[in-house]
Amino acid sequence: MKIVSIAIQKGGAGKTTTTMNLAAALRDSGKKCLLIDLDPQGSLSQSFGIADPSEPNIYHLLKQESAGDPASPKDAILERCGMDILPSSLELASAELELVSVYGREHILSQILQRLDSKYDFVLLDCPPSIGMLTVNALVASHYLLMPVLAEFLSLKGAKSFLKHLNLVRRLNTALEMLGFVITRYDERKTMTGEVEARLKEDFGDEMVFEARIRNNIALAKAQQAGMDIFSFQKSSNGAADYQKMGQEFLRKISQK
Ligand SMILES: Nc1ncnc2c1ncn2[C@@H]1O[C@H](COP(=O)(O)OP(=O)(O)OP(=O)(O)O)[C@@H](O)[C@H]1O
Ligand SMILES: [Mg+2]
Repeated sequence: MKIVSIAIQKGGAGKTTTTMNLAAALRDSGKKCLLIDLDPQGSLSQSFGIADPSEPNIYHLLKQESAGDPASPKDAILERCGMDILPSSLELASAELELVSVYGREHILSQILQRLDSKYDFVLLDCPPSIGMLTVNALVASHYLLMPVLAEFLSLKGAKSFLKHLNLVRRLNTALEMLGFVITRYDERKTMTGEVEARLKEDFGDEMVFEARIRNNIALAKAQQAGMDIFSFQKSSNGAADYQKMGQEFLRKISQK
């Protein structure tokens, strides 16, 4: 079982869209995935039509574990589109503050995930757009970090500053590895898009940038509104083709580790 954080502090970079559609691509390759919504905005949960999750959700698990009472993730998992989802709700916003005063606060999620069923091939963690306790908990629990980067200039700065934090988190999780950057909302007509890709390769190495780019594709947004992954919504779309390609590359990269 490999645990992967999908994270970058920049908002709207495509974290949630990548989490759900990468998982769906992996599902179609016969892999069993668990998706965990770690964002109080609950976008991942809502993208699977889970608007108002019943208790317990990820918030209650974190709270229980923080109090020293071992939490079982199984109780909070729902099944959607052939994948398992552990939803979040707005209550999770208070976890950022509540965790601060807990002993071993960075390891709470990691402890919960150790109690997961071994049936999963991958656990994907959809992180909030910040570097608070929730994101740190995700990184401490993870084997890999996958970073979606918007094809625009400011995203480069965001990616670099996030990686500085990654080095700090490595004190707590020496096994954490950067899997790569995925360029999202790619538009080949814009020169900026190519520049972002070139700069990432220059700074971090060609192998750190996924060859599969996620093009701008309205079907991806529409699929989320419909509560479905892109393959269930419109298999013939560019979004489906891009995430299918990305999923294959993801599996290849992991197998080479
Ligand atoms: N390749 C794409 N083409 C078109 N729209 C996209 C694409 N990727 C994401 N979107 C849309 O852009 C918006 C932001 O994407 P998403 O929610 O995945 O980003 P995020 O990084 O998770 O945001 P947040 O930081 O708020 O969690 C969503 O409305 C989504 O549907
Ligand atoms: Mg999101």
